[in-house]
Amino acid sequence: MQEVTDAAFWELVQQRGGADVYWTEYCRVHAVSCLEKWIVASVRANPTGRPVVAQMIGNDIPHLVRTARQLEQLPVAAIDFNLGCPAPVVYKKCAGGGLLRDPQRVDAILGALRETVRIKFTVKTRLGFESAAAFATLLPIFARHSLDLLTVHARTVTQGYGLPVHYDLIRRAAEMMPCPVLANGHIYSADQALAVLARTKARGLMIGRGAIRNPWLFSQIRQRLRGEPVMYPTGRDVLAYIEALWATNDTNGVSEKLQAQWMKRFTNYIGEGLGAHAGRFLYAIRRAETRAEFFRVCREHLDHDDALKLEPSETGP
Ligand SMILES: Cc1cc2nc3c(=O)[nH]c(=O)nc-3n(C[C@H](O)[C@H](O)[C@H](O)COP(=O)(O)O)c2cc1C
Repeated sequence: MQEVTDAAFWELVQQRGGADVYWTEYCRVHAVSCLEKWIVASVRANPTGRPVVAQMIGNDIPHLVRTARQLEQLPVAAIDFNLGCPAPVVYKKCAGGGLLRDPQRVDAILGALRETVRIKFTVKTRLGFESAAAFATLLPIFARHSLDLLTVHARTVTQGYGLPVHYDLIRRAAEMMPCPVLANGHIYSADQALAVLARTKARGLMIGRGAIRNPWLFSQIRQRLRGEPVMYPTGRDVLAYIEALWATNDTNGVSEKLQAQWMKRFTNYIGEGLGAHAGRFLYAIRRAETRAEFFRVCREHLDHDDALKLEPSETGP
């Protein structure tokens, strides 16, 4: 996830149970692009002991090929191509989710990249641009390029992050694709994870915002798969997680106000998981401008030993 999934974040997730595989945020590819230094640094630092997949986004075949060759020189397990980003600044340039309006171009790009990439080559896609019906055209294209993995975020681009998530179309992909399929979209608890696995028959799950809100989620899913009781973090565990997130960016020169602002990319999601406290926490934390005020709000809501499920209040389809 952009501006979230760097080495420091991966490490915090790993310390709380950890994912099996980590993804980088996407590398932007265009005529004069260079690999983003901070993404390369994260890949090289990878403190997790788990594989990392490097993602890229763009639409220019020669430059995608050039970038794939550069990424292959790094310690990455696979190169992933993004066909899902819904940001207007991206899709209006016919990249990310915007490419889903042009299946022929997707076909050409995947062909060129599959021919280039010597390590594993994977794709992360949404269902279509405006209509999920487009997935019926896209799937055979994905199927013919010998992908090593397909991750399906089961929403259209215009849906953004809204509901419903079309899990049944992930199942169609799992049944049709010759490679493993990962299910993605709105997985926020161990119970939901098992339900999505059963419904989609996917080989595994990709988790985005749920990992920010609840970095214990991966180990909770494993506990649930083993039939063990799920261990929930206490308020103080969540407080320690927020303190650790703050410390990842607490370098000289960042003002407390900017740092509190920066933290909102995490606390906006964590706050959603605080049940009856969510509204008051989010209201106060969004207004915090100093370290003291920021952590006063956190302590007010989290300085306790009660277990927290960290599920969003709107739990969906
Ligand atoms: C802040 C943020 C940044 C994201 N950046 C990326 C990205 O760089 N590459 C990508 O494939 N998906 C990105 N996504 C999408 C997520 O990977 C995921 O597909 C989406 O959030 C749905 O899954 P979730 O419901 O588990 O969050 C991003 C999502 C968010 C919220």
